[in-house]
Amino acid sequence: MSIEDFPRYPLLFGPSPVHPLERLTERLGGPRIWAKREDCNSGLAFGGNKTRKLEYLVPDALAQGADTLVSIGGIQSNHTRQVAAVAARLGLKARLVQESWVDWPDPVNDKVGNILLSRVMGAQVELVTAGFGIGFKESWEQALADIRDQGGTPYAIPAGASDHRLGGLGFANWAAEVQQQERELGVFFDTVVVCSVTGSTQAGMIAGFAGQDRPRRVIGIDASAEIDATRAQVEKIARATAELIGLGRELRDEEIEVRAGWAGEKYGIPVDSTLAAMRLTGSLEGMIIDPVYEGKSMAGLIDLVQEGDIPADATVLYAHLGGQPALNAYSGLFA
Ligand SMILES: Cc1ncc(COP(=O)(O)O)c(C=O)c1O
Repeated sequence: MSIEDFPRYPLLFGPSPVHPLERLTERLGGPRIWAKREDCNSGLAFGGNKTRKLEYLVPDALAQGADTLVSIGGIQSNHTRQVAAVAARLGLKARLVQESWVDWPDPVNDKVGNILLSRVMGAQVELVTAGFGIGFKESWEQALADIRDQGGTPYAIPAGASDHRLGGLGFANWAAEVQQQERELGVFFDTVVVCSVTGSTQAGMIAGFAGQDRPRRVIGIDASAEIDATRAQVEKIARATAELIGLGRELRDEEIEVRAGWAGEKYGIPVDSTLAAMRLTGSLEGMIIDPVYEGKSMAGLIDLVQEGDIPADATVLYAHLGGQPALNAYSGLFA
C-alpha cells in the first residue's frame, strides 16, 4: 500500500499555499522561513489541519453508511468546528461533545469563535464538564449510544481525528504535496516546524517524509503541556501510519522529535512567549496565529532560530495549522 491507494474525499481548494515570510526571516536574521497555510486550505468554515485529515476519514464514514459524525474536543475546539463543516458539506448530522479543556475566564468563551460557527452550521453541540484529555471518553461513548438508540448510524471521530487508523494519512499526503511544491518553487525545506497536541498532524508528516529521498527534520512543538503524552501519541501514530502506507522500515527514534518549552503550564493558556509570537507574526507579516496552538509553535520556532538549534543556513517551513476562530474567546488579552 502507498498513500495513493487510500480513498480520499476532496475537501480542500487544492494544495495549500506556500509562501515566504520575508520580514520575519529578516527580523530573526537566520534561516529562511516560509509558511504553508492550512488556515486557508478550504472553503469549509475557515479550514485547518483537521479538514485535511478528514479527507481520509470521510470515505470510511460514507462506506459505513453513517448519518451522523460524532466527535469531541474542548469548547473552543477547532477540530469539532471542522467536523461540523464537513458534516454540513456532506449532508450529514454532526454531534459534538465539547468538554471544559481550558479553564479560561472569558465570559463569552462558550458563545463565540469555534462553538458559534458549529452552531451556525447546525451541529448538535453538547457542553460537558470533563477536563483536558485526548483519549476516549464516557460522554462520547454516551453520545454514540444515544444516536444508535434513536436508530441512527454514528461515525466516531476521536479528538483531533488522531487516534484513528486513518488519522495520520492527511498529513502523510501533506508531505507528498510539499515535495511537489518544492519542485515547482525550486526550494527544499530541510526543517519543518509544527504544533503537536493530539499528534496525528506531526505523525503523518513524519511517516510521509520518511519515504522521500532527502531526509529532513520535523520539529514538533508541544502545546498540551503534557510532553510525555504528546510524544508517545506522535510516536504511536507515526509508526502505525508508516506501516499503513508501506514505508517498509521502522522509523528511527531520532525521526520523532517533539519539544517541550513553549506550552506554559496548561493546555489552552497562552504565556508571554505565545503573545509575543502572535504580535510579531501579526505585525511583521499580517499573518494571524492563535493563542492555543500556533502562537506556541511560532514561539518555539523563534527561540530555536535564535538559539541556533535551527542553523542559520536552514530553510524552514512553518506549518500554519489554522485555529484563528478561537481568538474571539481571548479578546481580553489584546484589549
Ligand atoms: C490550530 C491547531 N494547531 C495545531 C493543532 C495540533 O494538531 P494535532 O492535534 O494533530 O497534534 C490543532 C489541533 O489539535 C489545531 O487546531
